[in-house]
Amino acid sequence: MTQVLRDKQIVLGITGGIAAYKAADVASRLVKAGATVDVVMTEAATQFVTPLTFQALTHRPVITEMFALLRETEIGHVSLAQRADLLVIAPATANTIAKLAAGLADNMLTATALDTQAPILLAPAMETGMWENPLTQDNMARLQNTRDVTVVGPGVGRLASGGVGSGRMAEPAEIVDWARVILGRGGSLAGQRVVVTTGGTQEPIDPVRFIGNHSSGKMGYALALAARDRGAQVTLVSAPTALPAPVGVQLVAVQTAQEMRQTVLAALPESDVLIMAAAVADYRPAVAVAHKIKKGETGLELNLVRTTDILAEVATRRAGLGRPRVVGFAAETQDLVANAQAKLKAKRLDLMVANDARQAMGADVNQVTLLDASGGIEELPLLPKDEVAERVMDRVVELLQGGSNEQADEQALE
Ligand code: CTP
Repeated sequence: MTQVLRDKQIVLGITGGIAAYKAADVASRLVKAGATVDVVMTEAATQFVTPLTFQALTHRPVITEMFALLRETEIGHVSLAQRADLLVIAPATANTIAKLAAGLADNMLTATALDTQAPILLAPAMETGMWENPLTQDNMARLQNTRDVTVVGPGVGRLASGGVGSGRMAEPAEIVDWARVILGRGGSLAGQRVVVTTGGTQEPIDPVRFIGNHSSGKMGYALALAARDRGAQVTLVSAPTALPAPVGVQLVAVQTAQEMRQTVLAALPESDVLIMAAAVADYRPAVAVAHKIKKGETGLELNLVRTTDILAEVATRRAGLGRPRVVGFAAETQDLVANAQAKLKAKRLDLMVANDARQAMGADVNQVTLLDASGGIEELPLLPKDEVAERVMDRVVELLQGGSNEQADEQALE
């Protein structure tokens, strides 16, 4: 699990809309990720969900009244505002948005919002007419021009009225993802441009068939999120996968090894780190037949030709530059360390992540061995892929802080 939410102080503001019930999921996800969550509800919000729900989820008192007598252990808006790392308002009604834009402080939530220096994450939810009203839009623009406000949603969907339109609150998972992005902004990869490749390339045989592999893309997506959560600007070059587009990451969809090569090479001058987690086809059909191949009485032979080795080409192009740092993956089914070491050398990598292809592909867990350019070997235990991604990112941070890769530089002098 990502570390970025751990021990963070998050104030979760809940205002009066039917989506308030979804805020329970937001609170639960934040708490599970290790954040301390103080829930502040408006009077209207308590008409939809009870404070007890949030108290049970956060294990903390829920604040509903501005002027209730506070015990020493409880918290007033000043201390709440001051210790918040992030203020999330989900759902945010048109009424509360108008108050925030006008600088009103007539309840505990608006007072905290006015007082705090923390960034604000706003998830609006309202009827379409209210959302599209120029007054609401003006309020949103004003807020975004004056405060560090990130807006997530609203999306199009079923609304409280039973109608369908824009105004539906973003999904809790997406809201929490944005919380991660905002809190990760100053992280250990802040300012770094990281390119991650993922998925298994597909090489067309004809318009309906291709040569592919079992890669699920999960490892690459986990790496992209881990880099994002540390503040990196991430481009994810993804061969086809079944995974949803990640939040806060630039996704470039490709299909073939050739498309992936072009995209990676184009991004190279602008990148500080390249992580090649994709399972790139080594061979493609010599021709992609224009029409669907019809079956015949005899067998069918496919003529395959080699694709370009992207990492080998990257090694040549970056030689002498010391940038980007390059991390490769070795998918092996035998002699893991020896084969991975040979690839690390041949492709002049800074770091190699070696795994058993039979266990890794498609799974949610992975057991990898990390090999570095100076001969270091670190065998990690079996871990969830997001945990593996964190360990790889720790090494990437070290690489960026450390000296140059002598092997890559020596080659440049030859
Ligand atoms: N790779 C690449 N371009 C290719 C093939 C692989 O950049 N055409 C990258 C992969 O993304 C991975 C690394 O090279 O980071 C090693 O890939 P792997 O499939 O393990 O090995 P190969 O180099 O293809 O060698 P082999 O198939 O013989 O094991």
